[in-house]
Amino acid sequence: MTYVEAAQAPLRKTGHIKLYGPEGFEGMRRAGQLTARALDEVAGLIGPGVSTEAIDRLVFEFAMDNKAYPATLMYRGYRYSVCTSINHVVCHGMPNARPLRDGDIVNVDITLVVDGWYGDSSRMYAVGNVPRRAERLLDVTYEAMMLGIAAIKPGGHVGDIGAAIQDFVEPQHMSVVRDFCGHGVGQVFHDEPNIVHVGRPGEGPELKPGMIFTVEPMINLGRPHVKVLSDGWTAVTRDRSLSAQFEHAVGVTETGVEIFTESPKGYHKPPYFPA
Ligand code: MF3
Ligand code: CO
Ligand code: CO
Repeated sequence: MTYVEAAQAPLRKTGHIKLYGPEGFEGMRRAGQLTARALDEVAGLIGPGVSTEAIDRLVFEFAMDNKAYPATLMYRGYRYSVCTSINHVVCHGMPNARPLRDGDIVNVDITLVVDGWYGDSSRMYAVGNVPRRAERLLDVTYEAMMLGIAAIKPGGHVGDIGAAIQDFVEPQHMSVVRDFCGHGVGQVFHDEPNIVHVGRPGEGPELKPGMIFTVEPMINLGRPHVKVLSDGWTAVTRDRSLSAQFEHAVGVTETGVEIFTESPKGYHKPPYFPA
């Protein structure tokens, strides 16, 4: 173990789920709110002709201006401040110079680190006018995330979240991605528990006050299967169907759940600027 690894060892996964107190919740509020403000800024930039590189630049500069650091930058060899996942890209799309086109849907996933706390959140954006089926996918995916979050309460179980999502999505002939899941978050980026977005009520670890994790369902118009491209990051639907995702970081409270990454501007789901 190197010197740096030794310094971080107490923060690594240890086989149990951490419980955070008021300082943890306060830290997550500050990180979550900054990430939410960054996602609000992105809403004002996105449109036909804008590149995902421009989104990456905006978020990097926003982070620097606010004494924050983008967690994805140099994370396991990833080189960008955001993930930008367009149309059939499920997650981990890399920013590039290609301009967004009218009718595209794009997920922007941002994690800003503020005083050591990781605010992890993502939203979908519609570029110009999107087809009706894309609009439906965005609505269903947002609702799926919020239903998953609404299922969280102390004494419940992790499986309640996946069950709420799966039982809402599948009857609408859309599918829930299995290959990626939500995760514990706090002073590390990806921690226990895994939050799978399918499941049965009562399964998995018990939810306890002080747990902090993400809910980030990926929903496809077609089949749930994904593959990762040869760049090692970009995950796409195998059948090339459209995919969408929203993500919030949340904490379990004594009475229910607190969302750390709500938009201060009320930009919850598209359209963010109704005509
Ligand atoms: N923000 C993503 C998540 O929700 C993780 C991105 S890791 C990266 O967990 F390396 F792809 F950026
Ligand atoms: Co996440
Ligand atoms: Co994320």
